[in-house]
Amino acid sequence: MYNILVTRKLPGNALDRLSTQYNVTVNPEDRNMTREELLEAVQGKDALISMLSDQVDAELMDAGAGLKVIANYAVGFNNIDVQAATERKIPVCNTPDVLTNASADFAWTLLMAAARRLIEGDAMTRAGQFTGWGPELLLGVEVFGKTLGIVGAGRIGQAVAKRALGFDMRTLYYNRSRLPHSVEQELNMEYADLETLLKESDFVSLHCPLTPETRYLIDAEELELMKPTAILINTARGPVVNETALVHALRDKVIWGAGLDVFEDEPALKPGLAELPNVVLAPHIASAATETRAKMADMAVDDVLAVLSGRRPKNLVNPEVF
Ligand code: GLV
Ligand code: GLV
Repeated sequence: MYNILVTRKLPGNALDRLSTQYNVTVNPEDRNMTREELLEAVQGKDALISMLSDQVDAELMDAGAGLKVIANYAVGFNNIDVQAATERKIPVCNTPDVLTNASADFAWTLLMAAARRLIEGDAMTRAGQFTGWGPELLLGVEVFGKTLGIVGAGRIGQAVAKRALGFDMRTLYYNRSRLPHSVEQELNMEYADLETLLKESDFVSLHCPLTPETRYLIDAEELELMKPTAILINTARGPVVNETALVHALRDKVIWGAGLDVFEDEPALKPGLAELPNVVLAPHIASAATETRAKMADMAVDDVLAVLSGRRPKNLVNPEVF
């Protein structure tokens, strides 16, 4: 009988499929487990379903010395020391694809909300400060026909580009490798180096994973390259942007606005960020659609079931272990 640790309750009923066969421990609290709780709870477990907020490092893997699989309830897996897992022959799984559309939708939600100052307008309206229509009330920037710069053209970046077709945009992308010509054509995506993309885009949306190469990819110098009318969207990972530099850039109008779903020291915000009117802030909810989160749970459970029954999981981050 295998023992499985799930570090948060998950929406949908995927976990039922685990508990009919195995001994499943789910964190009963509506909060993340503390480090101490994790280190203790992982002992004697054969499988771990972790959240992106759990740091799954060598120490945790050694505390859970019997771990046969780690399934991260996220597409991003920068919270997991994959090398340490590979050294221990532990397969690491993630949840790609099923959250692509929800995440792309949300990047657009932030883009539109920032461009058209929706949050400021909502606050003003609720506060009874809407005293009548005005020609200059909450002027934003137009989206249609503008230039969109996509940094990281994986599944989510491409889904964001697809939505831009409906807005007749010019879409630039920067990626480690060029996309096939057919994809570039279909999605109207034009390859550019990062500098060109930053200089020419009206909206810059980040969709790269967090790696040593992408940490602070957008720093003060990159923000300086952007147009003073430009908007930066980050639904990737907080540390891709130097958040303190962004606070300064937004305050000094180096760029016009931003929409952020992720933060450098999540869930903490860098000083000054929350006081700025020209940034839309969201609590890491890009994939938080009911259907999406249920599909992510199904995917994590399927992969745990696969490994525990000796089969290759579908979404393997470190294929060399299997
Ligand atoms: C969310 O940020 C994810 O990586 O799934
Ligand atoms: C994640 O799914 C990505 O490839 O963008």
